[in-house]
Amino acid sequence: MGEYERARAMAAAAPEEFWAQAAALVDWVTPPEVILDSSQAPFYRWFRGGRLNTCVNALDRHVAAGRGDRVAIRYDSPVTGVKRSITYAELLDEVSRFAGVLAGLGVSKGDRVIIYLPMVPEAVVAMLACARLGAVHSVVFGGFAPAELAARIDDATPRVVVSASCGIEAGRVLPYKPLLDEAIGMARHKPQASVILQRPQARAEMHAADVDWAAAMAVAVPHEPVIVEATDPLYILYTSGTTGRPKGIVRDNGGHAVALAWSFWNVYGMTADDTWWAASDVGWVVGHSYIVYSPLLSGATTVLYEGKPVGTPDAGAFWRVIAEYGVNGLFTAPTAIRAIKKEDPDGEHLARHDISSLRSLFLAGERLDPDTYHWACGHLGVPVVDNWWQTETGWPIASNLRGLEPMPIKPGSPSVAVPGYDVQVLDGEGRQVAAGTDGAIVIRLPMPPGTLPTLWGDDQRYVDAYLTANPGYYTTGDGGSMDADGYLYVMGRTDDVINVAGHRLSTGSMEAVVASHPMVAECAVIGVHDDLKGQVPRAFVVLKAGVQVDPAVLQAEIVESVRREIGPVAALKQVVIVPALPKTRSGKILRRTMRGIADGRPEPVPSTIEDVRVLEAITPLLVSDKP
Ligand code: COA
Ligand code: AMP
Repeated sequence: MGEYERARAMAAAAPEEFWAQAAALVDWVTPPEVILDSSQAPFYRWFRGGRLNTCVNALDRHVAAGRGDRVAIRYDSPVTGVKRSITYAELLDEVSRFAGVLAGLGVSKGDRVIIYLPMVPEAVVAMLACARLGAVHSVVFGGFAPAELAARIDDATPRVVVSASCGIEAGRVLPYKPLLDEAIGMARHKPQASVILQRPQARAEMHAADVDWAAAMAVAVPHEPVIVEATDPLYILYTSGTTGRPKGIVRDNGGHAVALAWSFWNVYGMTADDTWWAASDVGWVVGHSYIVYSPLLSGATTVLYEGKPVGTPDAGAFWRVIAEYGVNGLFTAPTAIRAIKKEDPDGEHLARHDISSLRSLFLAGERLDPDTYHWACGHLGVPVVDNWWQTETGWPIASNLRGLEPMPIKPGSPSVAVPGYDVQVLDGEGRQVAAGTDGAIVIRLPMPPGTLPTLWGDDQRYVDAYLTANPGYYTTGDGGSMDADGYLYVMGRTDDVINVAGHRLSTGSMEAVVASHPMVAECAVIGVHDDLKGQVPRAFVVLKAGVQVDPAVLQAEIVESVRREIGPVAALKQVVIVPALPKTRSGKILRRTMRGIADGRPEPVPSTIEDVRVLEAITPLLVSDKP
C-alpha cells in the first residue's frame, strides 16, 4: 500500500486520529479536547476546545524559531515598478502595529473588517492583523462594483473598512476610494472608520471617518495576539451562488490552520525552504489560502505579484519572476497560461529566462483543457498538476499529491480525492454511478478541517444550498465522472455559476441587471466557450413588444449597466437580441438545456418544451465563439 492509499484509508476510517496527527503542524495555546464534534450534525466542528491564534502560527512562531530573517513576502509590482522583500520579523512588526491601529479604531475579537485592496503587501498585513486580534476579515475583490461591495458591507456589518486610493489594471489607474465612498453611501450599515492607503499613483480625497494608513502606522502601538477558539471564525469570503445574493463562506481558525499547513507539503510538495508563488488575487480563495495562509503558516516565502501574465511588460512576465526569485512552485489559473500561450506560442520569451528552480506548475479555478496542459508540459518541462476545489472547501478536494505520493498524471483529470474528502458521483436519484459515468459530484459528510462550517449568519441557507439535494453529502455544484482508478473528471457547473478567466460569477445576478433594462422583456445569460477565458457570459434578450432599437446601442447600455452594478470583472460584453427564448409549456426558460448545449454536453430535449424550433434557432448562438 502506498502513502496515498494509507493516508486516504486512515482519514476515512479514523478521521479523528488522522487529523489529530496533522494538528501537530500547528502551535496551540490549549490543545483541542474533541477532534471532530458531530454533536450538532450536519454542523460539524473540528478541534473543539482548542485555542490558538492564526497570526502567531503564520508569523510569531517562525520568528521565535530563529527564522525572522527569512523572507516572508516578495512583492513584485511591474505595474508600479516597485519590488520589496519583507522578512518574517518585519512582517510581524507591521502586522502587530496595524493590529494596534485597528484596535485603536475599536476593532476587537469577533468584529468584522472589510478589506478592499489591490495586490499590495498591506492587503496581507491587514488580513493577518485581523487574525491577530481575533477579528474576522472579509476581503472583497477589487473588480467588483460599489453595489456588490455595499451588499457585502450590509451582510458582514464591518466596524472598519481597509482600502486604498487606487488599483492599477492593464496600465490604467483605477481610483478605489470613490467606489468605496459610493458603496458606503448605498449600504444600510455604516462602518465606523475607513483606513486608506494612499498610493502615489492617485491620492484619495479623505473624509471625517477616514484614517490615513501611513499616519496611523507612524504612531501605532504593536498589539499582542488575542487567543481564540479553534471554532471561532477567521474570515468570511463572499462567493457567487445561483442567486444574485452572494454567499458568505465562513472559515474557522483551527481547522483552517491545520488543513492549510498540511496541504502545503502533502498536496503541493512545498517546504519552509521553498519560494512559492500563487499568481492569483487576495480577493479570491486561491489568494487567501495560497498567497497568504498556507505558505506563511509553513514558514515559506510567498510571492505577491501585482500585474498580469502578459503585457507587464511582455509574455515573459511570469518567467522573469520565477527566475528572479528562484520560485519552486507556481500556482495559477489555466486562463493565465492560455494568455501567455497566445502571445508566445513557441516559448521565445520563456527561453530568455532561467526557470530551472521550478519543480511543478499547479493549475486550478476552471477546467484545465488538454491544449493548455500539453503546451505547459512541453514548454516548462515540469509536472503540470491540475487541482480541483472551491471557495467553500478552501483547499484542494482532488489533486495529484506531490508531497504525499506523486502519481501518474492523466490529462483532463485533477487526479484523485485528497485524503479527508470522500468524493462520490451520484445520479439524479442519489445513487452512485458506475465508473466513467457522468453525475453530480458530491462529498460525503463530514468534510475535512478547513472546509466551510456554515454560511455567515445563515445556517439554513447553508443546509438548503449544499446539504439538501443529496442527504448525507455536500453537493459541490460540479458535474463529472470518476474512472476505475479513482481519477476524477470535473466537467463543469450544473448550476448558474460560470467561471470566467478563473473568476467565479453568477449568471443569475447578471440576468437580474439585464432584465432591469426598460426595453428588455426577458433574458437568459449563459456561459459560452471562449478561447482565452474558458467561458464568457452571453446575454440573450427578448425585447418588449413594439420596441425598435439599434442593437449596438442596446448592447452598449446593457454592458455598461452590468459593469456599473456588478463590476468589470463580470466581463459581460456579448448581448444578442433573439425573437424568443426556449421555454417549457408552463413558461419556464430552459436554461439548463441551453447550458448543456453551450458546454458541449447536450441533454435530451425535455418533452415539456413549448416549441422546439426556438431552441433550434438559438443553438448556433450557444456553440459559436462569436455572438
Ligand atoms: N480591479 C478592477 N478591475 C479589475 C480587477 C481589479 N482587481 N481585475 C480585473 N478587472 C477588470 C479588468 O481590467 C477587465 O476590465 P476591462 O473589461 O475594462 O478590460 C475586467 O475586469 C475583466 O478582467 P479579466 O476577466 O481578468 O480579463 P482581462 O482581459 O483583464 O485579463 C487574464 C485576462 C487571463 C490575463 C486575467 O484574467 C488573468 O491574469 N487571470 C489569471 C488567473 C487568475 O487571477 N485567476 C483567479 C483565480 S486562481
Ligand atoms: P471558486 O469558488 O472561485 O474557487 O470556483 C470553484 C469552481 O471553479 C468549482 O466549483 C469548479 O466549477 C471550478 N473549478 C475550480 N478548479 C477546477 C478544476 N481544476 N477543474 C475544473 N473546474 C474547476
